[in-house]
Amino acid sequence: MSPRVPGPGVPPGTIRVFDTTLRDGEQAPGAGLTVAEKIEVARQLVRLNVDVVEAGFPASSPGDFEAVRRIAVETKGVAVAALARCRDGDPQRAVEAIRAAERPHLHVFIATSDIHLKHKLRMTRDEALKAAVQWVRYGRKALGRAAEIEFSAEDASRTDPGFLLDVYEAVVGAGASTVNIPDTVGYAIPAEFGALVGRVVERVGRDAVVSVHCHNDLGLASSNTLAAIQAGARQVEVTINGLGERAGNASLEEVVMAVRTRPTQFPGLATRVSTEQITPASRLVSYLTGFVVQPNKAVVGGNAFAHESGIHQDGVIKNPLTYEIMTPQSVGLTGSTISIGKLSGRKGLQKKLSELGYEVDGERLDAIYRAAIALADAKKDVTDEDLIALVEERVSEVPAAVQLEGWSVTSSKGGRSSGNVFLVVGGEARASETSGNGPVDALFKAVDAAIEPVLGWRPILAQYEIRAVGEGEDAQGQVLVRCRRSADSGPGALVVTGHGLSTNIIEASLEGYLAAVNKLHGASLPNVSGAYVSRGTLEGER
Ligand code: KIV
Ligand code: ZN
Repeated sequence: MSPRVPGPGVPPGTIRVFDTTLRDGEQAPGAGLTVAEKIEVARQLVRLNVDVVEAGFPASSPGDFEAVRRIAVETKGVAVAALARCRDGDPQRAVEAIRAAERPHLHVFIATSDIHLKHKLRMTRDEALKAAVQWVRYGRKALGRAAEIEFSAEDASRTDPGFLLDVYEAVVGAGASTVNIPDTVGYAIPAEFGALVGRVVERVGRDAVVSVHCHNDLGLASSNTLAAIQAGARQVEVTINGLGERAGNASLEEVVMAVRTRPTQFPGLATRVSTEQITPASRLVSYLTGFVVQPNKAVVGGNAFAHESGIHQDGVIKNPLTYEIMTPQSVGLTGSTISIGKLSGRKGLQKKLSELGYEVDGERLDAIYRAAIALADAKKDVTDEDLIALVEERVSEVPAAVQLEGWSVTSSKGGRSSGNVFLVVGGEARASETSGNGPVDALFKAVDAAIEPVLGWRPILAQYEIRAVGEGEDAQGQVLVRCRRSADSGPGALVVTGHGLSTNIIEASLEGYLAAVNKLHGASLPNVSGAYVSRGTLEGER
């Protein structure tokens, strides 16, 4: 049988790309984003031309509700999905968050495997089936005929297949237009998973879009997703850089580029993704979440198009097809042509950023322009990497309750370092001096001493990393810090990422530390508009 086409206005042969970076991706421990950062990622997903942006799990926290609501209001040209458990309260909250979207997409789920039913939900199969039908029916009624109502049977790949098919048939009867088959714990093997998908397509594929959602615990998430497409799935749930719970989800760039690179394996099928936007999307998500992309990661790793051995270099020079199955340009790695110096204008910078995959204008362009010109004074060449770092820096700006007015540090071989900071904390001038194991330690401790009496907490440093942006002695240092509040502990504690960028690595370190402090402060305010999207552990969720 031929499966249902994936939605009104979508041509037959389209594989609908459902991006869950902002929901499942953000569930990766320590990958939390602010509302403003989630909106920035959503904008990039629109440029990437995905079909659905799963913006979050509104019932999980006020911050996530607000992020989903704002993405639904502000993001055009894409369906906006929200996740909800099949229990009173969740679907209502999700509907409220996405109602204003151009194309609302409600995603309800309940576990169906005996392991989950017995040990987690303490429900019978029959109770789970009834809850699934009840909340799908609710979603259809609340959002109307035009909306997309998706049902996921959590842990589908470990569910008794007979029961699973009955559940899918029942929810389609109740109004589900998409049924999703999650390989929640990454347990499936491609041929086996393809066969399961084939059975679901056979049973309900005429009336609903069959979707898959694969996790990477055995490194098979992308392979399982591709096997599912071959078996008739017409929606794939994926994340940028494969971000996600535990070992992550199927990665968007791998699935999309496999379909594009091997058309004979997917006859008549294609996604609508603008693949040139893959690299900017990958960089943005990596930067904002602080999850560095491994150099040998397929498609977006730093070495994905690097040829080290002489034989390979020789082949690629003679003809890139010898060792490259896709071009770097096709995923947005452009050999850019305009260089930026002290005399460059705004227009030139804007064009250059556009070549690098970033569409920037207005105040943000002005701010990047000022920073680029200042940088051109401080170092010989402003490289592509410098510009990318400047763009990224602007993206995660947060309102600064704590501002740095000045600092000084002394340090010598074998001795302790001593640091002074001058800050403004909530409008109040504060100065402090402390010693530490090194200059950065001394200054961070000085910040702690200055802010704790005013804010009532100090940051606890969980991670500190520094890397050079580009090459050369005058390269900028980009610092990443991860912190939590001293007042919070345990597995649910909010961990935030702060970045700093400067040709002076001590300055970059302080900038990064204060960026994290300001995010933690924002998250502790009752007004959630700029708040961090934190998520407690929900009963019934993995
Ligand atoms: O992995 C999973 O089962 C999920 C569902 C909520 C779709 O993320
Ligand atoms: Zn998942």
